[in-house]
Amino acid sequence: MAKQWWKESVVYQIYPRSFNDSNGDGIGDIPGIIEKLDYLKELGIDVIWLSPVYDSPNDDNGYDIRDYQAIMDEFGTMEDFDTLLEEAHNRGIKIVMDLVVNHTSDEHAWFVESKSSKDNPKRDYYIWKEGKGDQPPTNWESAFSGSTWKYDETTGEYFLHIFSKKQPDLNWENEDVRKDVYDMMKWWLDKGIDGFRMDVINFISKDPRFPDGEVHPGKQYGDGGKYFMNGPRIHEFLHEMNQEVLSKYDVMTVGEMPGATPDEGKLYTADDREELNMVFHFEHMDIGGGELGKWTLNPWKLTELKSILSKWQYALEEKGWNSLYWNNHDQPRVVSRFGNDAEYRKKSAKMLATCLHMMKGTPYIYQGEEIGMTNVAFDRIEDYEDLESLNMYEERVNDFGEDPGSVLERIHHRGRDNARTPFQWNAGKNGGFTDGTPWLAVNPNYTEINAEEAVNDPDSVFHFYKKLIELRKSNEVVVYGRYDLLLEDSEAIYAYTRTLDSDQLLVLCNFTGEKQTAQLEDFAGKSGSVFLTNREGDVVDAEDLKEVELEPYEAIVFTVK
Ligand code: NOJ
Repeated sequence: MAKQWWKESVVYQIYPRSFNDSNGDGIGDIPGIIEKLDYLKELGIDVIWLSPVYDSPNDDNGYDIRDYQAIMDEFGTMEDFDTLLEEAHNRGIKIVMDLVVNHTSDEHAWFVESKSSKDNPKRDYYIWKEGKGDQPPTNWESAFSGSTWKYDETTGEYFLHIFSKKQPDLNWENEDVRKDVYDMMKWWLDKGIDGFRMDVINFISKDPRFPDGEVHPGKQYGDGGKYFMNGPRIHEFLHEMNQEVLSKYDVMTVGEMPGATPDEGKLYTADDREELNMVFHFEHMDIGGGELGKWTLNPWKLTELKSILSKWQYALEEKGWNSLYWNNHDQPRVVSRFGNDAEYRKKSAKMLATCLHMMKGTPYIYQGEEIGMTNVAFDRIEDYEDLESLNMYEERVNDFGEDPGSVLERIHHRGRDNARTPFQWNAGKNGGFTDGTPWLAVNPNYTEINAEEAVNDPDSVFHFYKKLIELRKSNEVVVYGRYDLLLEDSEAIYAYTRTLDSDQLLVLCNFTGEKQTAQLEDFAGKSGSVFLTNREGDVVDAEDLKEVELEPYEAIVFTVK
C-alpha cells in the first residue's frame, strides 16, 4: 500500500460559527480561529477541515453558498482568510476547505439568472422541470422535510432542491457547470489550500428518468435516495474532476457520501481509479434509526456497530482508504451517544477515542470532541436554530399531530445543534466563546467541561487525544497495520488487532458501565505490554493475554509479545 501524508495525518474539523468569536457579535469568525491555532498545534493535529466560510445568506449556516470566491461578512475578510492560511502553514498545519457543489444558494448569481427566464444562458445550470398536473415532477422528500421541488411563478416550472428551498441543486449534466466548478476549485488550490471535503458529493449525478420514490410507512413523501445517490455518471464526474483539477496538486480529498456502501467506497477511493482519497460513509451513524430515519430512537447494538466498521475496514484493506469519525457538525456528540456522558464521561470519551483512532484510516476530530463535550437538551424549541430540526418539529407536530414533548426529545438525542453549541473554552461568561450574546446558547455544562480545565489536567480527555496523535506519529502499525476483528459476538467489548510485519497491537474497549472479561483463547501464552490505556492508577502489563479484565468503559491497547 502506497504511503501518503494524508494517511498519516489527523484532521480537526472547525465549524467556524461556533468555534471562537473575536469581535463580540456572538458569531465565531476567522480571526477567532487564528487566535486558537496554538491550541490546535498543542493538540498535535495535522490538518484543519474548515466548514464553509464563503459568502452565504445562512439558511443552512454556510452550506448555501452565494459566492464561492468571497468570505462571509460575519466571519471576516479574504485578507483574514489569507492570514489564517499563512499562520496555519507556519505551524505546519494544512487547511482543507469545504466544497459545496451539489447545490448553491438561491441567491447565487447563477441561480438568480437561471430563474429569470427559460432562455437565459444559465437556465440549464440548475434542474428545472414541469409539474405533473398540479403536482411536483416527483414525489421525493427533501432532506429538510417537504418536497424536493419548489414551484417558481416566473417561468411556471419547478426546480430541484434536495436540501432546503434555498439550496437549488446544480445540474452536473451541463458541461459549463462542471467547468465553472473546476475553475473555482483551481482558484482556491492556487491560493495554497491543501484539499477539499466535498459536501454530499455522491448526489451530483441524478437518474435522468426522475422516477417517483417509494413512500415508506409514516411518511408523506417518497424516498428519492436511490435516484440521486451514487447516480449513473458519478464516477465519470469525479474522475473528470480528478483529471482536470485534483491530480495537478498534492492535496487531500474526502467525499461526504450518505448511502455509500463499502463496494462503492472502494470504487471512489482506490488509487488506480483516480477519483477521491477517502469518503465519509454514514452506515455507523445510521444505527439506532428506524421508520423516520434518524428521528426514530431505537436502541443500538455494539455487534451492529462492529460489523459495519469492520466491513469497511476489510473492504478497503488492499485498495482505497477509510476515514474514521464519530462526530461532525451534523451528528450528536459521541460521548452522549455511544458512551456515558454522566458518571463515565471522561473515561468513555477516552475509550471511544481509542476505539476509533486505533483503526485503519485517517481520523477526524470534531471541535470539542477532544475535551469530551456532550449533547445539550434545551427545554424550548425556540432555543434551537437548525432548520433540519425546526422543519421536522413543525411537520411532526402540525401535520402529524405528535406530542411536542416527544418530538423535542428526539431533537435532544439526534439534532444537529448538539454539535453546534459554542466551543467551551473556559468557565467564564459564555464559556469564553464570546463577549456578546452567542448565536446559539452555550451548553450549561461549560463551567465543568472546558478547554482550560482540560489543558491544565494531565489526565484529561484533551491529553489523551494528544497522546493518541503522538502514538500514530511514532508507530507505523497504527497507520498501516492490517485490521482484524475479534470477539465478533460480544455486545460489551470491541476487540481487534492491528498487524504490520512482526508488530501487533491488541485493542480492547469496554462499551459498558460494568466490568467485563475478554476471553482471548488465541492469545494464550502470549504476553502484552501496555501501549495505551485510559485506566487510572497503576497499569500492569499482561503476562498472559488469554483473559483480560476490563473496568467500566476501559480501553487497553497492548503490544503483543
Ligand atoms: C451535508 C452537510 O454536512 C450539512 O451540514 C448540510 O446541511 C448538507 N450537506 C447540505 O449542504
